[in-house]
Amino acid sequence: MRLWHNRASPFVRKVRIAAREAVVAERIEEIEVMVSPVNVNSELAACNPLVKIPALQTDDGTVLYDSAVICEYLDGFNTGARMFPADQRRWQVLRLQALGDGILDAAVSRRYELAVRPPEYRWQGWLDGQMVKIRNGADVLEREVQDWGERFEIGQITAACVLGYLDFRFPEEAWRQLRPRLAAWYERIRHRPSVAATAPA
Ligand code: BEZ
Repeated sequence: MRLWHNRASPFVRKVRIAAREAVVAERIEEIEVMVSPVNVNSELAACNPLVKIPALQTDDGTVLYDSAVICEYLDGFNTGARMFPADQRRWQVLRLQALGDGILDAAVSRRYELAVRPPEYRWQGWLDGQMVKIRNGADVLEREVQDWGERFEIGQITAACVLGYLDFRFPEEAWRQLRPRLAAWYERIRHRPSVAATAPA
């Protein structure tokens, strides 16, 4: 399998953590690509029409995207506890993943607005709107983290990627200040081998 990736992307991080949790990482060749919403990477465009990472080429040549699809595919190789449970908890798990993915969409959009858009075109109201989503979403994680126990399913994997990305790109947001339970959870989980090995760079 081949994974088009960039370590800065939190969506790529989801996949790289999932690959380690499913003990399939050593079967994946990683191809690093530079991505930008304004410069189309032709190598990536040739395999993913959306020109986005992560994209995973399976051994039969199919190219899968996006992170949720790739992670569920990798879970198929998992011989341990499933990241995507099939029982009635599945919808709670998918909901938590969607919450985390939504926070990440807002955070990455904010990052692009600040780092890519020329300053004269920057739209403060739009930046503020993204921050509302990030903060509201993190508040929900703070309320729900006490129910997670020792589980590390796709919802928790996504939450870890959210918190890692906030530390990486928005340290001034100091998300821990108002969210002590989430901070304690993340302090524990960031040392887990799959999480520690995939820290953004
Ligand atoms: C970033 O540099 O923050 C980034 C890179 C790729 C995808 C998403 C975010």
